[in-house]
Amino acid sequence: MIDFVFPLFGRFHPILVHLPIGFLAFGIILVFLSKKGENKHLDSIRLAYLLGAIAAVLSSISGFLQYQYEGFSWESVQFHFYFGCTTALFSFYLFYEINKYNSITSFYKLKSGALFALMLFTGHLGGNITHGETYLIEPLPAEVQNFLGYETTANKGLEIPEIGWEELVYYEDVVQPILNQNCSSCHNSRNKKGNLDLSEYNALLKGGEDGLVLTGGNPEQSSLFTRLVLPKEDDDHMPPKEKRQLHSEEIELIKHWISLGGTTESKLGDAGIEPELLEPFIKKEETPFYPTTAVSSVPEDNLNVLKESGFFAEPISEESNWIMISCINLSSFSDADWEKLNPVKEQLAFLDLSRTQITDQSLDELVGFPNLTVLKLNETGISGEGLEKLLKNENLKNLYLNKTQVTLEHLESLRNHPGLEKVFVFDTPASGNELAGEFSFYLERGNYLLPKLATDTIVY
Ligand code: HEC
Repeated sequence: MIDFVFPLFGRFHPILVHLPIGFLAFGIILVFLSKKGENKHLDSIRLAYLLGAIAAVLSSISGFLQYQYEGFSWESVQFHFYFGCTTALFSFYLFYEINKYNSITSFYKLKSGALFALMLFTGHLGGNITHGETYLIEPLPAEVQNFLGYETTANKGLEIPEIGWEELVYYEDVVQPILNQNCSSCHNSRNKKGNLDLSEYNALLKGGEDGLVLTGGNPEQSSLFTRLVLPKEDDDHMPPKEKRQLHSEEIELIKHWISLGGTTESKLGDAGIEPELLEPFIKKEETPFYPTTAVSSVPEDNLNVLKESGFFAEPISEESNWIMISCINLSSFSDADWEKLNPVKEQLAFLDLSRTQITDQSLDELVGFPNLTVLKLNETGISGEGLEKLLKNENLKNLYLNKTQVTLEHLESLRNHPGLEKVFVFDTPASGNELAGEFSFYLERGNYLLPKLATDTIVY
């Protein structure tokens, strides 16, 4: 009948612990407010330390009961427990001392300071148990976390690379990340709810308080799976309903892994799973469009000078220092005007010189702009001669030569360009209909042909 009392008292631990903290902190404050030989606060300090000591004892007892009934491992709670008991004993001692001498003795402030430190440290250890050791670390910026030696990717959940996923180890690379994200906060070596540790395979094999959780080859006999598909309201449903719930694909991946035998050996590529199951977790590699080199920002004044000269000049984004320049309202720009762009040599990533007066001579100037990524030379005097000079602009990705005189032969000279992705040649000799050879970049020639429709050839 009274079986429930101990576990219940254990569950009060997280609430009870605040009592000694409050009493003792109050007592410690009064100690520090006291002056030598002054007895104004003595009675209050005495009472605060006595109540604090008693509350600390109750906290220690309830903490021990919680450890007994809630599946915590002794290794994870032992220091918290020892320090909690020490806090209780030390408070009693300080109460005894002030009672005996009836004054603030020498070193009493120092000892009270030590009590404060002890209490703080005990509380911190307790917090680590409930919230995990990284509780205070997680909100920090990733760089700070890495600096402190914490891995920031540990609990990100399942991520599957776009290429080469067949080689992933089913358990280690798929199942464990799902468990890490969704189960490990309650089922780890420190905090074993249901006496179950899911933080690694060997621990998982040991099962929990109801026995094994994995029956290889038989998901329906494995509580590791069946608990996931119980109705959310069911008390046995995992993860408990207030936590992040698994996606159906994650559940399906776990089920399939158990069906395959639930071992650590199988590879994802041999598992015969539907690719749609993996789709939500595929991480597309995003390579940034503009160069990743760091450049200093262009002083506002320099931008203003450019604008006053008639250029359209703007930062490309707030995250970077790259700028774009267009001569859309400066068609007078010519081969002689390049030095105006000198102040932004490093930062210029997007340059539109369409419909300006430039000629092939300008190609020599472009070498000085190492980070140029997009270059528009539409409707200019560019003939195509000397186009190979652009090979030096290694960051160039998109080149616009619409309505110029370039030919396919000219474009040949760019064949081995290290970065070029697209070249636009609408309305040029290069856009003629004869098939171009294979280029290392994509040639946008603009001569789209509609596919033949069946109806075109039907004779009525
Ligand atoms: C918020 C805490 C929490 C999370 C998160 C959580 N569990 Fe549990 N789990 C518990 C508690 C508490 C128990 C013990 C009570 C019970 O048996 O329902 C338990 C028990 C279990 C058991 C039964 C162990 C046994 O032998 O009695 C299994 C299996 C289980 N959990 C699987 C999982 C899986 C798989 C996940 C992640 C998908 C998960 N749990 C996430 C709290 C959690």
